[in-house]
Amino acid sequence: MVGLDFILMTTTSLTHLRGESKIREMLAAETKVGDSHSINSSDPARSWKMIVEPVEPFLRAVTQQLTRQAHEFDPQIVPYAEHALNNGGKHLRPTLVALAAGCFGKPNESHVTAAVIIEMIHLATLVHDDVMDEAEIRRGSPTVAAKWGNEIAVLFGDCLFAQALKLASNYPTTEVCRAVSLATNTVCSGEILQTQQRRNFAAARKDYFRVIEMKTGELFTLSCDLAAFLSAAQPEQRAALKEFGAAVGTAYQIYDDCVDLFGTEADAGKSLGTDLAKGKLTWPLLLAWERASSTDRAALENLIIHWQPENLAAVNALLAKYQTFAPSVQEIERCLEIARRALRVLPASPGQAGLLALTDFLAQQTAALVVQ
Ligand code: IPE
Ligand code: IPE
Ligand code: MG
Ligand code: MG
Repeated sequence: MVGLDFILMTTTSLTHLRGESKIREMLAAETKVGDSHSINSSDPARSWKMIVEPVEPFLRAVTQQLTRQAHEFDPQIVPYAEHALNNGGKHLRPTLVALAAGCFGKPNESHVTAAVIIEMIHLATLVHDDVMDEAEIRRGSPTVAAKWGNEIAVLFGDCLFAQALKLASNYPTTEVCRAVSLATNTVCSGEILQTQQRRNFAAARKDYFRVIEMKTGELFTLSCDLAAFLSAAQPEQRAALKEFGAAVGTAYQIYDDCVDLFGTEADAGKSLGTDLAKGKLTWPLLLAWERASSTDRAALENLIIHWQPENLAAVNALLAKYQTFAPSVQEIERCLEIARRALRVLPASPGQAGLLALTDFLAQQTAALVVQ
């Protein structure tokens, strides 16, 4: 499978490029203007590189600030913070901040800090999500919970949330802290709704899109929204970027749900199969349930409710029988099209071209899953 894992390599390598230069100097560095027509190459690593190349000084500054943040914790907490904050990740949300800001000119230090805050909130939710999913691997390394136990992971996740909010309170306006707090509440509420609906097909089907827009779409939305706010964008431009973020985030979670069922851990760099094990009813499963005969529907419910690892083959057979993969891909495409349409309101700019290229890139990754 072609996964998004090579992005991990790109962003991890950035940590080795840390120089002594100040963030302002990094942001002032020469940047190349993105060209939407040349961004998409048939080689995914090359496509991604072309998207992030114009914002590399920004992403380097984010990586530097995250590294510095690890030392803001109590000395006895620093090992956890270093493990979580210096461990790569694709930095999709910081990339969104940079590209959305790039619709209105050059990103500045306030955008870098916003990206750092959002990445820390994202990390906190992942640390907690891995406790709930009993996941062993995250970003190619042991999860905080696997390394230090659930108690530490829960409390350390709380520390990350608190530290991110402290950073957000440094802005001269309360708007940033307020937006970050609201979004964090929404993400965690989305995770709670999903937990309440585990193994309950009817409830999960009714709320599927609401839940993924909350748990994943919200931080994508926040990334675009704060970038627009800090760039003093017009209200309709800010609204368009929010719509873009929500739609891309939703597409990304459906893609991730497909990876959990059809991908490989080596490619994803994280534990997979946890959705089934924990009774999280993702889009392909819900489609199978919806399309199944009454006998198969009862069988599917039974397999999930009384989950055993050996049920996997039977679940896969039902996913294949009801051809759930192609319509999942169509759903991702539908969301990406909403995202592309939202971009029309924005000024033609390197940022707009980069955001458009990002939607094409995700479509390309999704198509690569199809041929497996
Ligand atoms: C993982 O997010 C959680 C989801 C919303 C699917 P990412 O795929 O952005 O994870 P990292 O930050 O690259 O590790
Ligand atoms: C996304 O859900 C988690 C959050 C939004 C916190 P998943 O459970 O699918 O994320 P992964 O697959 O573990 O990264
Ligand atoms: Mg998970
Ligand atoms: Mg997942």
